[in-house]
Parts: sequence; structure tokens; C-alpha cells
Amino acid sequence: MTILEISELRKIYNTGAEDLVILDNLSLNLHQGSSTVITGESGSGKSTLLNLIGGLDSISLGNIVSCGYPIHEMNEKQLTEYRRKSIGLVFQSHYLLKDFNALENIAIPARIAGMEKKAAMERACELIDKVGLSERREHFPSQLSGGERQRIALARSLVNDPDLILADEPTGNLDEKNSRIVEDILFSLVEDYKKSLLLVTHNLFLAERVDHSLHLSCGVLKEK
Ligand SMILES: Nc1ncnc2c1ncn2[C@@H]1O[C@H](COP(=O)(O)OP(=O)(O)OP(=O)(O)O)[C@@H](O)[C@H]1O
Ligand SMILES: [Mg+2]
Repeated sequence: MTILEISELRKIYNTGAEDLVILDNLSLNLHQGSSTVITGESGSGKSTLLNLIGGLDSISLGNIVSCGYPIHEMNEKQLTEYRRKSIGLVFQSHYLLKDFNALENIAIPARIAGMEKKAAMERACELIDKVGLSERREHFPSQLSGGERQRIALARSLVNDPDLILADEPTGNLDEKNSRIVEDILFSLVEDYKKSLLLVTHNLFLAERVDHSLHLSCGVLKEK
């Protein structure tokens, strides 16, 4: 089954005098349960592509069908619902809320989606265990290391049981040792929970661990 189908996608930024074509007739087809790495030079449009798939930015032309949702024809309300239910987002920055502890941070998206407090906390407990930070449940983001915060962000991305994880350089702010730890946890989460993964990274070694390795250049994706 297909989890993501992109056809003839274009993203153009209108910047005053000239149009900036970032993605140009880009196509992509991913199967459910597959994992894919995207590499590309800085400014090639990797984040732009992930943001479009995540329904966070507007499509200039073309179609994206993700997790069964036709993103290109959805309104803001439908996009919010899609982001909440079907997508797990992880970024270079953790975006944890500083006034909430680790467990609460993981549970918040579930509470927003309407899950009862007890169920949300149970789910958060299961996930914090999966990222190896059970002992840190009560700790606030300021009491955690950069790598630990990213592990909490990974756990949070799975709390609503999404189909597709979109990860944009999740280890971009970490040193090599912590990058490996976070990557290992990301891959084991994806495997254990049978999720599809689209990961943007500069780490070329990760290509060996995934089903597809793609390179974004001149607005299109090519198999590496
Ligand atoms: N709102 C915007 N208006 C105009 N241009 C933009 C806008 N957002 C991004 N861009 C341009 O689009 C291009 C692609 O940006 P994007 O952030 O997707 O690159 P990237 O591949 O993720 O780079 P990096 O590896 O540095 O994160 C860049 O040239 C950027 O300057
Ligand atoms: Mg980027």
C-alpha cells in the first residue's frame, strides 16, 4: 500500500522581482512501512518538501496524497486534523514546552487530540520507556541534555500513533555520539511501531539503514 504519493509538485516563492522555483515537477512514491532518507545541499529545498508533506506550507502546483489525505485540496481545518492524526513531526529543534515536564510534553499532543488524561499519560509512559528516559519523567526540558530532549521529541512525535514520521535533521544540533543514540532510537521506534519514515539528514551513513536513499537537487529527487 502507498503511504505517500507526490506528483508534479512545484513550490515557487514569489520574492519581489523574480520567482524562486524550489521544487520543480517533483514526484515521489513511498510504500507503507518503508523508510527513506533525503539528502541534498543546504538550500536545495529539503525542509520545504517536508513542510509541504506535513501540510505546513502551501503547494504552488501539483498533488500530494499522504496517509490517504489529498493535501493539495484540503482546507486549514482538514490540515490540522491530518497533522494531528497521521503525521509525526521531528525537527532540528525540540520545541518542548519549558513549563511542562518530559512526560507531560509527550502527552500534550494526545490531550489536544482529545485523549483522556489517564490514557494520554499511559501512552506517554510507554513511549518515554521506549526512548530510555523513564527515570526522567518529572524532569523539565532545562534539566535534560540536548540528546535527551530530542529523545523526548521523538517520543512525542509518536503519541498520536501517526502513520508517517517526518524528521527534518533531528540530530542536526547534536554531537556525533548523541546523534548516533538518537538515530538508533528513531530507527527502533519506526521498526517497533511499524511506521513509515521520511528523514532529512546530512549523515550519509544512514543511507545504508533505510529502504530508499534519495538526493534532492535542482528541484527534483533522484535515487542515489
Ligand atoms: N518563505 C520563503 N521565501 C522565499 N524563499 C524561501 C522561503 N523559505 C525558504 N526559501 C528558500 O527556499 C530554498 C530552500 O530552503 P529549504 O529551507 O527548504 O532548504 P534546505 O534544503 O532545507 O536547507 P538546509 O539543509 O540548510 O536546511 C532556500 O533557497 C531558501 O532561501
Ligand atoms: Mg532544512
